[in-house]
Amino acid sequence: MGALLLFVCLLAPFVLACAIRGRRARRQASSKSLALPPGSMGWPYVGETFQLYSSKNPNVFFARKQNRHGPIFKTHILGCPCVMVSSPEAARFVLVTQAHLFKPTFPASKERMLGPQAIFFQQGDYHTPTSAASSSPRLLPEAIRAPPALPRPSRPSRCGASSYALNVALLSIFGEEEMRYIEELKQCYLTLEKGYNSMPVNLPGTLFHKAMKARKRLGAIVAHIISARRERQRGSDLLASFLDDREALTDAQIADNVIGVIFAARDTTASVLTWMVKFLGDHPSVLKAVIDEQQEIARSKGSSGEPLTWADTRRMRMTSRVIQETMRVASILSFTFREAVEDVEYQGYLIPKGWKVLPLFRNIHHSPDHFPCPEKFDPSRFEVAPKPNTFMPFGNGTHSCPGNELAKLEMLVLFHHLATKYRWSTSKSESGVQFGPFALPLNGLPMTFTRKHDY
Ligand code: HEM
Repeated sequence: MGALLLFVCLLAPFVLACAIRGRRARRQASSKSLALPPGSMGWPYVGETFQLYSSKNPNVFFARKQNRHGPIFKTHILGCPCVMVSSPEAARFVLVTQAHLFKPTFPASKERMLGPQAIFFQQGDYHTPTSAASSSPRLLPEAIRAPPALPRPSRPSRCGASSYALNVALLSIFGEEEMRYIEELKQCYLTLEKGYNSMPVNLPGTLFHKAMKARKRLGAIVAHIISARRERQRGSDLLASFLDDREALTDAQIADNVIGVIFAARDTTASVLTWMVKFLGDHPSVLKAVIDEQQEIARSKGSSGEPLTWADTRRMRMTSRVIQETMRVASILSFTFREAVEDVEYQGYLIPKGWKVLPLFRNIHHSPDHFPCPEKFDPSRFEVAPKPNTFMPFGNGTHSCPGNELAKLEMLVLFHHLATKYRWSTSKSESGVQFGPFALPLNGLPMTFTRKHDY
């Protein structure tokens, strides 16, 4: 509770700005005939922040609210008036059809840390070319498909999923040419990440200060790589795609985006991989089906140890369904944030300018209307495509994830190697979820790997 109070105090300026905006918005609302969505705004200033933080996890709070008020409701969290939406139609309205009315929004300290010119903080003219550069062609199937052989992950290490996801992200961005910088890039990134969720106090000794120093060093390394790249042949990685961009991004814009992509790629993928291992461990018949599928693919390649190809991954149907079901059940990004840029009417309700708007992905993924027995882990439900806008693990619309194909590919490749070459067991994990910031099994998922002899 003490930590929460401290957190709230440190967020005071942000909270105050939101509170003023909230009051202005309430005045606007009452001056129009439209009603605000149902729901409670809680206590003055603190709103329902305590209710949110005192529930076991935020999803319990969201689910309770949805049960009481329906798929669109208002609340007030950390000083910000919010509208939360949990129907596929409303999520589509906010993220796709009326996306221009809702801008991405993050606390200023996070923007400073990742780089204010990174793609996820942008809207409109600058977002469009940056998004094109980060998604096309280097992260899309054409590029991933191009090499005849996909890289093999190294042996499972102590660091596991996070380390694997970070290596893949760095390799996709910088290619193999810049390997000599990789260790330093990793160290700086890990320091930056430790400070990401710390209190934004930039004083020597604080995690935030260390993170900001690491951010500066990261920027300097990336700037150095960029200037060397501008001198010579471009390569075929994501950095090359930013450099090729006809809209000519500045070095600072490229650096912010590179660091942003590392951030977006690492913990998300690592978190899904961790849940996948957990769910497979909890469902031996599904694990057997995945092992059978992967062994069949390994057998079809003969004894030459030929590397996997893109075509091989297209045959991994069972494993792909396990990935989909893992992303649905775990919903590691329970929601995303937007802010209304003007007063918006939705289904007869007013969403006032300046209010935060949160599409609740997890509520949609856990609705029995779209996924019968939603708490059950059942990959076979993906034998039939889900109804439109009901399954959004990678978001939807303008800001949807440009790394989704790469993420799926790295999970398939990793599981091929794990299922065919290793046996693994997980220590009995505690039930429960921790958020850091993405959902993970409580206290992680310690695992032991043993090499199979019969491969
Ligand atoms: C399983 C792993 C992943 C998941 C579940 C995931 C999920 C998401 C989601 C839900 C969004 C949209 C957020 C919003 O609308 O506010 C997003 C955006 C983004 N993701 Fe991913 N992601 C994953 C992996 C990756 C990877 C591997 C990369 C890059 C190599 C990446 C790069 C990005 C970027 C740059 C954005 C911002 C796009 C924009 O704002 O236009 N992600 N991701």
